[in-house]
Amino acid sequence: MAMPGNEQFADLLCARIEGDPGRLEHRQFPDGETYLRIRSEIGDRDVVLVCSLDKPDAKMLPLLFAADTLRELGARSIGLVAPYLAYMRQDVRFQPGEAVTSRTFAATLSRHLDWLVTVDPHLHRYQALDEVYRIPSRVVHAAPLMAHWIRQNVVRPIIIGPDRESEQWVSQVAAAAGAPFLVCDKERSGDRSVRIAIPHAKALVDHQPVLVDDIASSGRTLAVAARQLVDRGHRPPDCAVVHPLFADDAMQLLHSLVRRIVSTNTIGHVTNGVDMSGPVADAVKTFLLPRA
Ligand code: R5P
Repeated sequence: MAMPGNEQFADLLCARIEGDPGRLEHRQFPDGETYLRIRSEIGDRDVVLVCSLDKPDAKMLPLLFAADTLRELGARSIGLVAPYLAYMRQDVRFQPGEAVTSRTFAATLSRHLDWLVTVDPHLHRYQALDEVYRIPSRVVHAAPLMAHWIRQNVVRPIIIGPDRESEQWVSQVAAAAGAPFLVCDKERSGDRSVRIAIPHAKALVDHQPVLVDDIASSGRTLAVAARQLVDRGHRPPDCAVVHPLFADDAMQLLHSLVRRIVSTNTIGHVTNGVDMSGPVADAVKTFLLPRA
């Protein structure tokens, strides 16, 4: 069952798990409140809600309304496929008084759903989703399919991770793509302000740089790295992004600095070129119990 805007991914998934597409009606009342109605027969079925959680604040309440309604209508289980899982980055109180939003968000979803499947959540200070989610979860990794895309589309790639955190997925992508990799140092001083130091490496001279990151939000991380590569006389990089948030002017900013951008379809975007529905379906199947 697709929450609004998730129909394409839900269709792909539905076909792969040989499920029945569910129907849900959703609209806003003039005062901004949500009207939601389940239009499918639910009684005793396993329901998979599909809702990528970019721009999460507006999506959260309809998702909870849907989950509770499905429960009241007799669903045997209700799982969530959130190809992009929000609120993973505020995982600690950096300044006194700050909300640790990842905890509240996870606790709320855990109260309403039975299981969770997501793609490469931004695990930094948390080692695993289980540290904040109280429901069972499966994490799907984009690295193998990203690497496949790079092998098919880039001649002599060198994989570049923009910060130390990215080493976890950059090293996997590089190994699977049979390419060298390097990791930069990054300092962020504001939402739209980052400094990146790319190490000097001989391999940059005769390889095509591919910047790989889990999230592109303001696009500043990719833009600053790309500008530095070009200023040093290297080729304009390709960018491979797992979750293409691309807020505000991010795409315009990157347009003149990079050769091309590819992303996975965890969030619907014009740059989508890597379909994650196959490995997500495999993870979903582990939660769908055969009927007695
Ligand atoms: C950082 O921790 C992430 O891996 C990304 O590098 C970051 O979220 C990208 O953000 P932006 O596009 O706003 O620079």
